[in-house]
Amino acid sequence: MCGIVGYVGSKPAVDILLDGLEQLEYRGYDSSGIAVKCDDAIKVYKAEGKLSNLKEELAPHAYEISKATMGIGHIRWATHGAPTVVNAHPHTCGCGKLVVVHNGIIENYKELKAKLEEKGCKFRSQTDTEVVAHLIASIYGEVKDLAKAVQLTTKQLEGAYALCIMHNDEPNKLVVTKRNAPLVIGVGENEYYVASDVPAIIKHTKKAIYLTDNQVATITPDSLKLEDVNEQELTPKIEVLPWEPVALSKMGYKHFMLKEIHEQPDVIRNILVGKLHTSDSPIVLNEVKLTRNTLKELNRIQIIACGTSLHAAMIGKYIIEDFCGIPVDVEASSEYIYRKTVTDSHTLVIGVSQSGETADTLTAIKQSKAKGSHILIITNRPDSAMAREADSLIPVSAGIEVSVAATKSYIAQLTSFYLLALYMAEIKGTMSEEDLNKIKSEMLLLPQKIEQILAHKENIQTCARKYSNTRDFIYIARGINYPTALEGALKLKEISYINATGYPAGELKHGPIAMLDETMPVLSVLMNGKVYEKLLSNSEEAKARNAKMIALTNSSDQKLDDLFDYIIRVPEVDELLSPIVAMVPLQLIAYYIAEFLGKDVDQPRNLAKSVTVE
Ligand code: F6R
Repeated sequence: MCGIVGYVGSKPAVDILLDGLEQLEYRGYDSSGIAVKCDDAIKVYKAEGKLSNLKEELAPHAYEISKATMGIGHIRWATHGAPTVVNAHPHTCGCGKLVVVHNGIIENYKELKAKLEEKGCKFRSQTDTEVVAHLIASIYGEVKDLAKAVQLTTKQLEGAYALCIMHNDEPNKLVVTKRNAPLVIGVGENEYYVASDVPAIIKHTKKAIYLTDNQVATITPDSLKLEDVNEQELTPKIEVLPWEPVALSKMGYKHFMLKEIHEQPDVIRNILVGKLHTSDSPIVLNEVKLTRNTLKELNRIQIIACGTSLHAAMIGKYIIEDFCGIPVDVEASSEYIYRKTVTDSHTLVIGVSQSGETADTLTAIKQSKAKGSHILIITNRPDSAMAREADSLIPVSAGIEVSVAATKSYIAQLTSFYLLALYMAEIKGTMSEEDLNKIKSEMLLLPQKIEQILAHKENIQTCARKYSNTRDFIYIARGINYPTALEGALKLKEISYINATGYPAGELKHGPIAMLDETMPVLSVLMNGKVYEKLLSNSEEAKARNAKMIALTNSSDQKLDDLFDYIIRVPEVDELLSPIVAMVPLQLIAYYIAEFLGKDVDQPRNLAKSVTVE
């Protein structure tokens, strides 16, 4: 989703802005632009599509803009108005002296626009953001102070925003503010960086200030003044960022997605260090701040999440109910926030999010927190807005995930759910020691099992090629792997644009079976365990309708050779842990199909990595 950058200092601003935008590309975007302060005026450049188009646009002006030492930049993921040059940011006021970049949505922009039009403002774009430029400029005309104009403007704005603003009459000054959208300020030596996310600043500085909602920062090369919207001065809190720039390299892989799939064994190892030592030692999860007594008495859990994180949450439900006997509800955050939810101080609410910034999940979390629930956040970003809302925070430590399609963060979320469920089961005494030890010893072997799959991925690549020429793809599974089927289908559709759907296999005959014929690939997630035979029967039913049958299995059953056209075998694993092992080949199938079809694997069309608007 949109990303903003800003720089004020003494270095050439254009390169810093462009590089910052490149580091935010993973968020997903469809146009871009920058504005820089040149000798006597602010110059604005914009382009549709990829950043390379913006660079081409800038090339003829290279000399003119090379001396600029202050500027702002933006990548736009279209919400209001098509991804055209005129709708791209930065947006300017009528006279062009004030420029704004914005991430978020101004919900009352229509009313504000009508009022500004009455005053004579002429609008050029269809965006909500242009309203902000005109509004600040109109207030600036009265108060002649950029920070004050921004403070007064934000009192009129409804919705979400991170804003970075500059004005030609206030040289060497950026004003930034935010509400319900991320913004970080990097602190350098006589220079400051602004960005929607850490990757855009990490190669310049590790010192940063996370702006909180309704704070306004006025930045010059050698000063930073932090205020609230009522001009009360605040003390900025400078933090040291726990990131390394090297994390953003592809390390020789063709795509970030492939690299991130290969990182999964180490991701699991890193999570287990310090938490699960041996099969017979207790789980250490100091991150859970609920007392043992509260945990013992806990009788209800709600998990809220979106997309891939929602699929992790569904598996979380399965294992918490299985291991601990506590009823768990799982719901998409976007649904949760618009109904009357029965949540109170006796409910543990778990928010799951790779980015920790997903607007719907953040709102849902805030709603539950207001009702007194204990909030446990499972996120890959301990520096995120959601993490700051947490009473208990489980950082999944997968390292930064650049590919828009989530892979290693999903495996990390699952691993964290297993640890949490085992931890609670130990405290509640709901599992026998033998069962606990069995799961724990198998968990310690998971990294090796994934390494075995990755070492023999050619078979998966061949399968992907064989079925890449299809318009539709069905994934079926039962029990604990039903969410695996959903996640496998989601991975395929988001990066290859093939219409893929996951079904609980028992539901096939209640409707979807009507779609089956010899053109339809059906992939069955067939793991040994209590639903194995049932799923085998469902696969027979699909075969009888001439579907092209693919098995993803850990079974050595010979009869599978007759039933399935293609078989992908994975190492033996306990059914309860099989979602982790089963997911890796499904990620690879999606990857190889998309790669074979020549799709933009890491930045699929229309998608954003961090969905910061509802
Ligand atoms: C799919 C994907 C999305 C995200 C969803 C939630 O590969 O990445 O479905 O899972 O947008 O994002 P987070 O986990 O950041 O809350």
